[in-house]
Amino acid sequence: MKKMVLSASVLFIFASTVFANDGAGKKLFQEYCWGCHHETAMAFGPSFESIANKRTPQEVMAQIADPDNTYKSLGYKTNSMPAFNDLNSSELKALTDYIYKFKDKK
Ligand code: HEC
Repeated sequence: MKKMVLSASVLFIFASTVFANDGAGKKLFQEYCWGCHHETAMAFGPSFESIANKRTPQEVMAQIADPDNTYKSLGYKTNSMPAFNDLNSSELKALTDYIYKFKDKK
């Protein structure tokens, strides 16, 4: 019985870290990006779906951290996006993973 309780809680901890990771990217998106980007619809900026379909994760992370340096290579004439240079690398990764959830599965 004790063993069962133990393995149930191990499973719970495992599951909550997996889902917390997903939640972190979504939460960051809602906090910082949602005003200008939506998941699948065009807003002020392009949708995450279209971004995931045409960019590499490196391009996405570089754009989030320092868009003044990337907009030209991504084909834009001007930059209208603020830099999110106070995000740490795990937050950047969580956001990028979240963006790639919308990539078309072919
Ligand atoms: C104030 C509005 C605004 C906010 C907030 C914003 N963006 Fe943007 N973003 C844009 C615009 C507009 C573009 C299109 C390029 C341009 O015109 O500068 C863009 C472009 C991008 C691109 C590159 C698009 C491409 O063609 O590949 C990525 C990636 C991106 N944004 C991610 C994010 C993420 C992630 C967040 C939240 C952390 C965010 N943006 C917050 C306005 C915004």
